Amino acid sequence: MLHDPNHLYIFDTTLRDGEQVPGCQLTTSEKIEIAKDLESLGVDIIEAGFPVSSPGDFQSVVELSKAVDDVIICALTRANKNDIDVAAEALKYAKRPRIHTGIGASDMHIKYKFNSTREDILARAVEAVKHAKSYVEDVEFYAEDAGRADLAFLAQMVESVIAAGATVVNIPDTNGYCLPDQYGAKIKYLTEHVKNIDQAIISAHCHNDLGLATANSIAAVQNGARQVECTINGIGERAGNTSLEEVAMILQVHKQAFGGLSSNIDSKMFTYISRKVSEMMRMPVQPNKAIVGKNAFAHSSGIHQDGFLKHRENYEIIRPEDVGLDEAGIILTARSGRHALKHHLERLGYELDKDQLAVTYERFLVVADAKKDLCDEDLKALMQS
Ligand code: KIV
Ligand code: ZN
Repeated sequence: MLHDPNHLYIFDTTLRDGEQVPGCQLTTSEKIEIAKDLESLGVDIIEAGFPVSSPGDFQSVVELSKAVDDVIICALTRANKNDIDVAAEALKYAKRPRIHTGIGASDMHIKYKFNSTREDILARAVEAVKHAKSYVEDVEFYAEDAGRADLAFLAQMVESVIAAGATVVNIPDTNGYCLPDQYGAKIKYLTEHVKNIDQAIISAHCHNDLGLATANSIAAVQNGARQVECTINGIGERAGNTSLEEVAMILQVHKQAFGGLSSNIDSKMFTYISRKVSEMMRMPVQPNKAIVGKNAFAHSSGIHQDGFLKHRENYEIIRPEDVGLDEAGIILTARSGRHALKHHLERLGYELDKDQLAVTYERFLVVADAKKDLCDEDLKALMQS
């Protein structure tokens, strides 16, 4: 597959790995709505489901294939003929279909999940890629639990599946086990030891069991990966997957460090799409979640508020409007200073001189001590009393 070396491919798996969270299941029409938003957001690939897993998942892949025009639609399979046949059938209306097949690569999975040997697993991997290739040009292979796999064996597996026709090789840290330097080194090793690696894109697929999914994905990109698999709000099994919005904003904020690498993501849609996925999947976003949490742009301590109001870049590395928020929140609490209070009173049309502000501030502190934070109505009541 010809690919742009300066492009970071964003592979969204909100509707597959994300949807595996108990209680987060969506109807087909809800999936179509999210898929259309993902298309507008600028993702390159949407993993639409695991067709063999249920009739509902099969139908969702069929309907998403019909509904989405520009983005690659991907279907997951295990490394066996039936899964691949079913996925190919589900993808038959896709304008740009991809089959994502794979098998366990760690000795742990080979022994305790497949009760097999490295040789047998390798043969099954190659067979699966060849079979998928008989249906579609675009075949991605995942080496499950690559995070804990033997490096030389992993390299052998990657080389074999590329020779069999895989155009993308996914190196999942399935259990969120690796440290960023370990995961980055794994990717680098593959770029240096797999002879035909230039015929495929390396993909990072990280889980967040140790809170390292984003850091590991970034380490992978710094070492040669050109596709990142992620979900909106970082949702996914257990502690979740890499968060799409974090990866995209890291790339934007540290543009130069990535030497011109960019994605097609329109970050101004983040607030909207984060809220939509959260509501539809009934999965609240933690308030301190980077980029899309309720408090991600809220300044509450007096020192920060004062510095922010003097020059917003004192305490702001991303402008809220860049992620689709109207403005940064200067939250009024008992820790706020006069500067923050003045800012809000002026916004509401109250002009106070220095002495009036001093008196009002003392009364404000009494109210703020009694309430956790103050809204506009509280301020108006304060001014009228
Ligand atoms: O985490 C994982 O290994 C996966 C694969 C099925 C791609 O989700
Ligand atoms: Zn996963």
